[in-house]
Amino acid sequence: EKGTYPHYMLKEIDEQPFVIRNIITKYKNENDTIKLDENIRQAVLDSDRVYIIAAGTSYHAGLVGKQLIEKIANKPVETHIASEFLYNMPLLSEKPLFIFISQSGETADSRGVLVEIKKLGHKSLTITNVPGSTLSREADYTLHTYAGPEIAVASTKAYTAQMAVLAILAVDTARAAGIQMDFDPLQELAIVANAMETLADRKEELEQIARDYMSVTRNCFFIGRAMDYHVCLEGALKLKEISYIQAEGFAGGELKHGTIALIEEGTPVIGLATQEHVNLSIRGNIKEVVARGAYPCVISMEGMEEEEDTLVIPHVHEYLTPLVSVLPLQIISYYAALHRGCDVDKPRNLAKSVTVE
Ligand code: M6R
Repeated sequence: EKGTYPHYMLKEIDEQPFVIRNIITKYKNENDTIKLDENIRQAVLDSDRVYIIAAGTSYHAGLVGKQLIEKIANKPVETHIASEFLYNMPLLSEKPLFIFISQSGETADSRGVLVEIKKLGHKSLTITNVPGSTLSREADYTLHTYAGPEIAVASTKAYTAQMAVLAILAVDTARAAGIQMDFDPLQELAIVANAMETLADRKEELEQIARDYMSVTRNCFFIGRAMDYHVCLEGALKLKEISYIQAEGFAGGELKHGTIALIEEGTPVIGLATQEHVNLSIRGNIKEVVARGAYPCVISMEGMEEEEDTLVIPHVHEYLTPLVSVLPLQIISYYAALHRGCDVDKPRNLAKSVTVE
């Protein structure tokens, strides 16, 4: 039930700190180590390459998941859009593990891939919010995202929960493989939960940003580099699906290869700057769009902020920035849709779970 909330989406955005804390509890042993099914640990360890298959927001979580598993566990990962996978099936490695990411566990496009890879005899793991769902039942293993029911069509808490579970899985794999590291996902996720709470408390400010930037615009662009780029794709999807503003996420470096032609006087551009190693480059991109008339909204992170930034998110571990930087984008999208008179929880032409291919 949505209780005192006007919409499920806003309630689900606010639930994110609790979801992250819940995940920490569910994946923690008494001695503070990661609790994970031994069979899953072994399946990931045994594989020589991971293929992540998902759609929409879950695909965006999968893009971040690839970074996490490769950087932390040193295992090659490919992330694929479910509906395209079978047409453009890559040459598979010798011992692939397929990871399906799906909030509902019912997405037909993903199931289509699962059916085919099972015929080939490959192992599969579903990361889902609904254990007992089709993708969960039909895969060899399931990891639960423990986000609680997500009712709004626009996915919010499921996305951050999926990335939290992927970070835990990446570290568990690394430890099992004997890789040394000083990144403790359970501790760092607790910091993420606090940061999420801080941002959820800044709704008035974010509502004002939505009013300033999104009230009348026909389009809006999101730019970022490295993991920020993946969050830009998610921010754009969120905005377009509920506010019907044409929104696109671009990699900062791609602007000069064509997309900068879209920038006109007053075009809103949301720039994400939370990735230290590319900070100079994204700052350069923001200057380039401003020089062409863009109306910039820069979201940076503590430690990297500049005076003119619109919003500065609390500092979190570099592997986990997407879980926090997406919050303002979710909240801005919510208010943009609300102010434009859209049906926030049930956007036109969309269904919560897409059970047709
Ligand atoms: O249930 P799933 O995670 O498999 O759903 C995948 C997409 O249909 C879903 O994420 C969709 O893109 C959302 N409406 C995005 O907010």
